[in-house]
Amino acid sequence: MKTIVSGVQPSGTLTIGNYLGAIKNFVDLQNNGEEKELFVFIADLHAITVPQEPAKLRNSIKGLAALYIACGLDPNVTTLFIQSEVTAHAEMAYLLQTITYIGELERMTQFKDKKQKQVEGVSTALLTYPVLMAGDILLYNADCVPVGADQKQHLELTRNLAIRFNSKYSDTFKVPEPLIQKTGAKIMSLQEPTKKMSKSDVIDKASIFILDEPNIIRKKIASAVTDCDGVIKYDPENKPGISNLLTIYSCCKNISIDEAINEVKDLNYGEFKKLVGDAVVDVLLPIQTKYKEIINDNKYLDEVLDKGAEKANYFANKMVAKVKRKIGVGRKK
Ligand code: AMP
Ligand code: TRP
Repeated sequence: MKTIVSGVQPSGTLTIGNYLGAIKNFVDLQNNGEEKELFVFIADLHAITVPQEPAKLRNSIKGLAALYIACGLDPNVTTLFIQSEVTAHAEMAYLLQTITYIGELERMTQFKDKKQKQVEGVSTALLTYPVLMAGDILLYNADCVPVGADQKQHLELTRNLAIRFNSKYSDTFKVPEPLIQKTGAKIMSLQEPTKKMSKSDVIDKASIFILDEPNIIRKKIASAVTDCDGVIKYDPENKPGISNLLTIYSCCKNISIDEAINEVKDLNYGEFKKLVGDAVVDVLLPIQTKYKEIINDNKYLDEVLDKGAEKANYFANKMVAKVKRKIGVGRKK
């Protein structure tokens, strides 16, 4: 039986990039009919690697729990939990730091990018973040990890750490595979289509947020930056705007890029954008409706998260105990 692990940070409002690049794939994996163990968590310890406001963070954690369920994750099938409620995550991160080199962390692209954006100083946690992530994955002996393309480098480090630990001590961890979709793994900004769409973009209309009102979604897509040659084709290099809209359209419709092109190739950009807007609204509206139904049901959300934390703690504590024995800390052999 396969084990699948992934998480999303509760930092701000989620974008359609988070949905198409990550959460939609968790749901598809959950529903693919194969027997599996699926752990999906709210990566709150990752979120605090950059400054957060406590009250806002707490709200985002709850919002993300509701959003996971609204997007189709079924708490009876998938273990949903909050990372900080399974303390083994922090412990494992420390244990793995003992075999991680500073140089390999300093080389991480995301660290280098995020470091530049910090005005209040760069926290040590921002540097060690990928080790925390490796721990998240190795704690559950994951076979595969569905993520967007920006997490590929972190997955490579995770694999290296697993191999390093196994050869230094003895066979302990499974070496996980990243699961990165061919289409949708990197949804681009609507305003600067050569840049990744991000939760934290200062230009609001650059990102479609999962909870944006339908008319706002349509407006944002209508004002997406394209080009002036008027031809709808997939060419990310020379036509990044149109290619991004084609990607969004094909993911929302569950069709290939080629099928999407066949459907829309004779339209003008205005007509095409209208279709993309409709496709996005068709996907997001039911999620928003479900979200509104459950976001204020604290009892239900608490029950789900308690049950998830209990199950995750059981597996994670066992793995931490094993790792400590192998390293030789504590008294147990
Ligand atoms: P984060 O918001 O950084 O916690 O990301 C959560 C998940 O969404 C990760 O698997 C990311 O790789 C994925 N993700 C974030 N932004 C995008 C994007 N623009 N396109 C595709 N996937 C994304
Ligand atoms: N670092 C990931 C992100 O920013 C979130 C994350 C944390 C994650 N731990 C993980 C994803 C473990 C997959 C597996 O997107």
